[in-house]
Amino acid sequence: MWIAILSSREVKRGRPYRVQRMGEDMVFWRDGDGKIMALRNYCPHRQALLSQGKVVNGLIQCPYHGFEFDGAGNVVHVPAMGRSQKPPSYLKAKSYTLYEQYGIVWMWYGPGQPEAPPKFFDDLKDLEAYAEYWETWNISFLRAVENQLDGFHLPFVHYNTIGRGNRTLINGVALKQIDDITFVWHAAAERDVGQKPKVRLD
Ligand code: FES
Repeated sequence: MWIAILSSREVKRGRPYRVQRMGEDMVFWRDGDGKIMALRNYCPHRQALLSQGKVVNGLIQCPYHGFEFDGAGNVVHVPAMGRSQKPPSYLKAKSYTLYEQYGIVWMWYGPGQPEAPPKFFDDLKDLEAYAEYWETWNISFLRAVENQLDGFHLPFVHYNTIGRGNRTLINGVALKQIDDITFVWHAAAERDVGQKPKVRLD
């Protein structure tokens, strides 16, 4: 499954960027063409943190003995062996399959390799600008998802902003399954003047 894990602008050219996602300690960087790369953050030689190294010619250079790795995790250069010798192929860092578009970086999480790029919202593809915002909530991610789907709290918790108008009666909720990972959720709030809420929404 594809999981959106970063905003593109977090990973700058010429600088390693350390991130923990899905329980993995990872280092990100951009190669010479600006393409995003990621490896497990531990050098397969002596476990130094690659994120404390440098980006050299589009490769990540370990801070301990200077081994250089490409985005597939291969050792491309071992300084102590000199440029004339081929590095050993058995030393390999764990790499990750990434996809970057619309200012978002996705990571493939799970067995095998993806058959297609991640799905995006077709109606958002042509947007010229959008805003990002993030903050850390010290809760299970399920609580955050639940909160986003819960419109019933708006007139109480957010009564003077997005929930203003005392619209406490909820029509719906209507749920439409599009495919195995996409659904549309819709509810309509209105003032309670004694009417019954509609179960179905058109
Ligand atoms: S620990 Fe990374 S090159 Fe030795």
